[in-house]
Amino acid sequence: MYDQKETVSHIIGIRDMKEEYIQEIINQTYEIKKFPSKYSNLLNGRILALAFWEPSTRTRLSFESAMLRLGGTCMGFSSQAGTSIEKGESLSDTITMLASYSDCIVLRHPHRGSAKLAAKIADRQGVSVISGGSGSQEHPTQALLDIFTIHEKLKRLDGLNVGLVGDLRYSRTISSLLFALSKFGKNTIYSISHPTLSLQEELLYDLEDSNLNIINLENLSEIIGELDVLYITRLQKERFPDPMLFNKVKGSYQVHPSLMKLAKDSLIIMHPLPRVDEIPYAIDQLPQALYFEQAKNGVFTRMALLKKLLEHRK
Ligand code: NCD
Repeated sequence: MYDQKETVSHIIGIRDMKEEYIQEIINQTYEIKKFPSKYSNLLNGRILALAFWEPSTRTRLSFESAMLRLGGTCMGFSSQAGTSIEKGESLSDTITMLASYSDCIVLRHPHRGSAKLAAKIADRQGVSVISGGSGSQEHPTQALLDIFTIHEKLKRLDGLNVGLVGDLRYSRTISSLLFALSKFGKNTIYSISHPTLSLQEELLYDLEDSNLNIINLENLSEIIGELDVLYITRLQKERFPDPMLFNKVKGSYQVHPSLMKLAKDSLIIMHPLPRVDEIPYAIDQLPQALYFEQAKNGVFTRMALLKKLLEHRK
């Protein structure tokens, strides 16, 4: 357990993260990806708690893989079922308990502000909180692995033409990615969605004075030939306020393989996954399809982050 007077770092969002911090994680991720076994005893004896109120495959298991590869261990839950949350225990009491059993907590929760609240509580015991997604607000570790993947493939994080397709309103990965891209020089963002699924007004307001040039388009075909990155998201069915609206817009953005004939060879197609029907399986065969490699980078990026947060703690 940590000395309570020590300063603790938390990963709540990308919005307030400094460019240098992101750059440090990118550099460390390259290093770990090159020599993963060099770090296999780094976090011996440390415990990571995984507290997931919402479903997850990649975020939870890649954090678990990352912690195990660093020599640490994991505990936690992947749904409320079987925990005292079912009996009515609050988020704050649950976090208080997890902080007394572990050195770091990864939290995924449906509410905006949940990670910030958890950090405030865990901080009292000197334990770090990492957001694994807080409602439709942010998903910072996804953005870190996305940014690493873009850098690894395109060797730069500025001067990019990035097309965003799908559910841009409720997708937290989109918010975090935009905050991340806004820290690195000038990038142009083409936002391509059904009008009811366009970028959140609050997000646009936050990005107003940034370097990003955001352009709304209706069809991907208008811009596909200019794009460096095509980032596709599924419709966030569970976050739609109205099921009628979901039924109206579902299937509205499917990327047709024939469209890819117009794309640059150097285009990278990204998706945070899971996909539902927005990327047909035929696209997986294209050299531009990068989503599974992107997901694999999640392990290395999360290793870099856990190293940064826990290595120097007593
Ligand atoms: C994303 C999420 O949970 O926001 N998943 C992930 O962590 N890769 C994307 C999604 O669920 O659509």
